[in-house]
Parts: sequence; structure tokens; C-alpha cells
Amino acid sequence: MRWQILISIFSVVIIFSCNSKIDSEKYSEVQNKGNEISNITQTILLANVGKAIKKGGPEYAIEFCNLKASSIADSLNLVNNCTISRHSAKNRNAGNMLNGEIEKNLWEVFEKANANDTVIRSRGKLIFYKPIKIVSPACLKCHGNPESDINSATFSKIQKLYPNDLATGYKMNDLRGVWKIEFEQ
Ligand code: HEC
Repeated sequence: MRWQILISIFSVVIIFSCNSKIDSEKYSEVQNKGNEISNITQTILLANVGKAIKKGGPEYAIEFCNLKASSIADSLNLVNNCTISRHSAKNRNAGNMLNGEIEKNLWEVFEKANANDTVIRSRGKLIFYKPIKIVSPACLKCHGNPESDINSATFSKIQKLYPNDLATGYKMNDLRGVWKIEFEQ
């Protein structure tokens, strides 16, 4: 659709113009740190979810796909003077929705252009964003099709804990969310 292409181009221009004020050395520094921090957090989160699924199935593991489930995000925030969060256009936790036009535009770009990470400056902070994809069939046990991928015990527990859940119906390689790491300057 033509209007969708126009919106994408417009978004890229907006994001690009936000970036123009960040010098390239600072940009790569934040990009490297952002990648490092999100990779560590993702690895630990995944390992915890995997262990919990083995121990008690997905219904037991539900509480483990939460940044607060391990102290990893807190420690990394402290060491790097940053704030790690995850956001999504179809969020499960009410606190994880996309905020504002820039994040909505960014989502469109990540979804359509299959883009990698980006760094923008907003309200005096440098913010790193990176797509989170459905990379493993394990994700589908809680984010897939409620009729075929998610078992009924898990689905009812998700509905009880998150009555406004939007985060089901995903397939492999779908865009599930974005990492957002805000650095104080
Ligand atoms: C055992 C169930 C379970 C599995 C498996 C699981 N998740 Fe989640 N996921 C959840 C729950 C519950 C939340 C809400 C966490 C919270 O309250 O912050 C969540 C939240 C998220 C969020 C934050 C955005 C939102 O919707 O609130 C992302 C991103 C995410 N999951 C990605 C993944 C990916 C990628 C995988 C596979 C690598 C995965 N999840 C596997 C249960 C699961």
C-alpha cells in the first residue's frame, strides 16, 4: 500500500534527523553498550525461562519472562547508569506499551524494513532500541497461538495475571518487542 510506504519513509527521515545530533563516536559507544547489555539480559532471561519450563512446564515459568524476575536488569542499570525496559505494540504487561509517536514510528520501521538497532536522543537522554524477535519455538509456548501452541493451564494463568494481554498469536521470526535502554548523559 502506498501510504504505508510513505509512512515508513517519513519515519526513517524523522529517526534519521533525531540521530543527526549525535556524533558518530558517541553513537557507536551507545550502540555497543546497548547491544552488550541487551544480549546479556536476553541470555539470562532465556536461560531462566528455559530452566523454569523444564522444572514445572510453561504454566510454572510464566513469572520468569519478566525483567524483575532476576536481578540482572537492576545490576546492569546500576553499573551502566542506564534503564533497561522492553516495549511492544502488542504488549502483555500494561507497563510495556509503546510510548509516543517516535516509538510507534520506530516499530513500523523495525517491522517493515527488518532494521537493526538504532540510537536516538530524546529529552537529554541517549536511547538505544533493538528489535526482539520470536527466535525459538519455546517463545510460542506463551506467545503463540492459544489453540495450538499454548496449553490450556498456561493460557488461563496468563489471562488471570494479564487480563488485557495482547501478546499471543505470534509465529517464528515475528517482531515481538523492542529493547529500550536509556542512558543518562
Ligand atoms: C513461560 C511463558 C513465556 C515464555 C516461554 C516466553 N514469554 Fe515473553 N512474556 C511472558 C510474560 C508472562 C510476559 C510479561 C512479563 C512482565 O510482566 O513484564 C512476557 C513479556 C515479554 C516481552 C515484553 C513485552 C510485553 O509483551 O510485555 C517480550 C519482548 C517477550 N516476552 C518476548 C519473549 C520472547 C522473545 C520469548 C522467547 C525467547 C518469550 N518471550 C518467551 C511469558 C513468556
